[in-house]
Parts: sequence; C-alpha cells; structure tokens
Amino acid sequence: MERQSARHTATSDSDQYRRERIRRMNRNFFLHIHATKVHPHSLKPETTFGLGMILGFLFVVMLLTGVLLMLNYTPSVGQAYSSVKNIVHAVPGGRIIRNVHRLASHGMVIVVFLHLLRVFYTGSYLGGRTLNWIIGVCMFVVVLLMSFSGYLLPWDQLSYWAVTIGSNIAASARELTDLLGITKFLDVGGFFQRLLIGGETVGQPALTRFFMLHVIFLPVTLLVLTAVHFWRIRKDGGLSRPASVEKQEKLFSWPVVMWAELAIFIGVVAVVLLLAFFMDAPLLEKANPAHPDNPAKSPWYFLGIQELVSYSAFAGGLLIPVLFLWFMFSIPYRDREEEHVGIWFSGVRGRKVARNAAMISLGVVIVQVFVMVQFGWLRDWLPGISQWFVMLINPATITVGVFVLLSLQVRKRTGSSRMAAIALFTAAMVALVIFTVIGIWFRGANWEFVL
Ligand code: HEM
Repeated sequence: MERQSARHTATSDSDQYRRERIRRMNRNFFLHIHATKVHPHSLKPETTFGLGMILGFLFVVMLLTGVLLMLNYTPSVGQAYSSVKNIVHAVPGGRIIRNVHRLASHGMVIVVFLHLLRVFYTGSYLGGRTLNWIIGVCMFVVVLLMSFSGYLLPWDQLSYWAVTIGSNIAASARELTDLLGITKFLDVGGFFQRLLIGGETVGQPALTRFFMLHVIFLPVTLLVLTAVHFWRIRKDGGLSRPASVEKQEKLFSWPVVMWAELAIFIGVVAVVLLLAFFMDAPLLEKANPAHPDNPAKSPWYFLGIQELVSYSAFAGGLLIPVLFLWFMFSIPYRDREEEHVGIWFSGVRGRKVARNAAMISLGVVIVQVFVMVQFGWLRDWLPGISQWFVMLINPATITVGVFVLLSLQVRKRTGSSRMAAIALFTAAMVALVIFTVIGIWFRGANWEFVL
C-alpha cells in the first residue's frame, strides 16, 4: 500500500514536472519559437555546430550596438567622418561599441558562409525544406549587403574607395553593352550604378542611400526573413536528421535547449568583447575623392568578385554572380534525393566527391592564375584580339565551364543528383575562397600580383 502510494506520488511528480517543462516553453514569448520537445540528434554539437544560433546572436549584438552608434553618428559628407572620430575618441565606451559592431558584422559574414556550408553538406535543403533554403540564400545576400552598406558610413579613405570599387562592379554590364554598341540607349550598368550610389561617383546621395539601407531597410528585411526562417524550422518538423535516428525518443526542450543557447550567447558576447579590446576598427584619413587608394580594394568578402572583374568586368561582375545565385536557388529543385537528408556529405561517397572536387578546383584556379601572372593572357599574346574573346575566354569563365563539366561527369558516373550538386557546390566554394585569398593577400598596387 505504502509502495503504491510512493509510486503514485513519483508519477504525479514527474507528470507535474513534465507539465511544467511544457508550460515554461509555451508561456514565454521568446521561448515559444521552440517546440516543447526536441530530437536528441538536433542537440549533438556536430549537427549544427551552433552556427545558426551564433548568427542570430551576432545579429542581436549588431542591432544593439548599431542603435548606440546611431545616437552619435551624422550621415552627411561634411560631418560623417568627424562624428565617427568623436565616437572613437570622445564618447564613453564609443571605441569598444564601434569595434564590437564591426566585429559582429564581419563575424556574421563568416558565420553565414559556414552555416550555409553546414546546411548544404548535411542535405538540409531536402525533406520539405526548399522554402527555408531559398529564404536562407536571400538572408546570405542581405547579410553581405548589410555589411557592405555599413562600410561607407565612416567616410574615410578606406570606405570611400572600397565603395567606389563596389559601385564600379555594379556597372559591370557596361562591358557587354559597350561591345554591342548600345550603351548610349541601354546603359544597364550605369542604371545599377546610379541606383546604388545616386550618380557616377560616390557623394552625398550615396551616403544617404547607404545609411538608409544600413539602418532601416536591410535590418528590417533581415528581421522579417529571420522570423520566417525560424517559423519554417518549426513547420518543417525541427532540424533535419537521418531516417535511421527518426525513432529515437524526443527530449523536453526545457531546460536543456535554454542552457545550450545561453552558453552560445555568453560565448558570442565574450569572444566579440574580448576581440574588441584588441582589434580596433580602422579609421584612416577623411575620404578624399581626388586621391585614390592604390590598390583600391572592395571589402574583403567581395575581393573574390573583384579578382574576377579584373579578368572581365561583365563575366566577373555580373555573369558569374548571377549564375552563382541561380545555382544556389536551384539546388533543392535539381537534387531531390530525400534519403540523404541529415547525413554529412551523404556518406563516404559524397566525402570523396567533395574532396576530389576541391582538389580539381584548387588545381584549375591555381594553374590559370599562374599562367596569367607568368605569361599574361589573350591580349598579351594577340594585342589586336577582339574584346569579345577576352570577355568570354578568361580564368573566370574557364573555371565555371570546367565546374559545369565536372558536375555533369559526376552525375553520369554516379547517377546521383546529390553527388553532382556536391561536386559543383564544393568546386564553386573552394574557387570563391581562393579568389578571395588572392584578392586579399596577393594583389598590390595597380592590382599587380605580389608574393
Ligand atoms: C542571418 C542569417 C541566418 C540566421 C540567423 C539563421 C539561423 C538559423 C538557425 C538558428 C537555424 C537552426 C540551427 C542551425 O541550423 O544552426 C537554421 C537552420 C537552417 N538554416 Fe539558417 N540562418 C541564416 C542563414 C541561412 C542561410 C544563408 C541558409 C542557406 C542558404 C540557411 C538555411 C537554413 C536551413 C535550410 C535550416 C534548417 C536546417 C535543418 O533542418 O537542419 N540559413 N538557421
């Protein structure tokens, strides 16, 4: 009798505890974004590496510090620079807040790239997650634009010339319209450039545009996209997982998910704060439109594109970025092999395909850059050659051509759309990283190659 009543008390205790755990999640506005139960696979560190949450928290840090910076920033050509100087030297804590803001923004660019890799390589665009992948690609673009639009605001030499280069990239279509002789009637490149900076050169209209984009339009867009992104994760049944673990019993989210998120939050804030004490955001002399920086470089995350633009403006600045985005958006429509969902590289075969594609990409890019640096390219060999050839046959277009052939070949050999996607995606990402590294460390004055 006594034993029966003890069992009854234990059962009702655990029932009560269970109800309490559900209530905690449901009653709290912020916790409500989580389901009351979570699959144990989602809690393993190697499932996500916490990258999505790190991104979310970096975004929060960026918003908070951005609001504080705005209190003292003046978005006018005459005062922008001095207001930033004032923030750094006179406003209490201003230097650290600015450093944190910049680190969070650059951190977001790096982490969004890593998160995208993890989502792709675990096949997490499969299993009904097409829409969330597409929203994610949009978020990737918005994160880049958010960082880029903030670049101009200090109005120093670095920001002025980086944005000038960015705006020249926006005008890349001119190479094609010039060749067709139609720029006078249909100046697509000029249209994009004017849309971006409000004229032919960077001035007050550009600063006003970038300020509005940076403080209102892009953050609000990212907030809305993030809300839909999180909602979709719930609707898609939580994070992706292999079918083999599907039957494992789910765990209560309270309190284990909260502890994990709190740890990530504290980690993010601690790392960013620590770095902010030692890594000052650059502030050169005030922007001087008469004195270009040499080399004038775009922000580091666009240096891969700037490298491609140095081969051909149209191919590097428009054609390849558009093809890249089209490929990214189309991935879930090309590959519908649902059995791969939630498995890193889809197993041993995918790992091998990724490794081979990475090696091929490395070889193709390095060999071409070596040839170009040592022996020049078409115009050096045949000075009178038509610009059409230079635009269509250069290391950028050849690289893309080789990658497409590679993925077709993998598709034919393996009969798998997932393997073909892994080959093309890996090759493209490795090339992007190599071109970016070349742009950052191996290009000097007049965009000459330096070792
Ligand atoms: C500011 C940008 C972003 C934020 C704040 C964000 C946040 C998150 C979070 C918190 C998760 C769940 C945990 C995790 O996977 O780490 C997640 C999952 C996901 N994200 Fe993102 N994300 C962003 C950008 C992207 C991008 C660029 C893509 C892909 C192109 C993407 C696609 C996905 C998908 C498909 C899932 C579900 C993954 C699964 O089911 O395993 N996200 N995201």
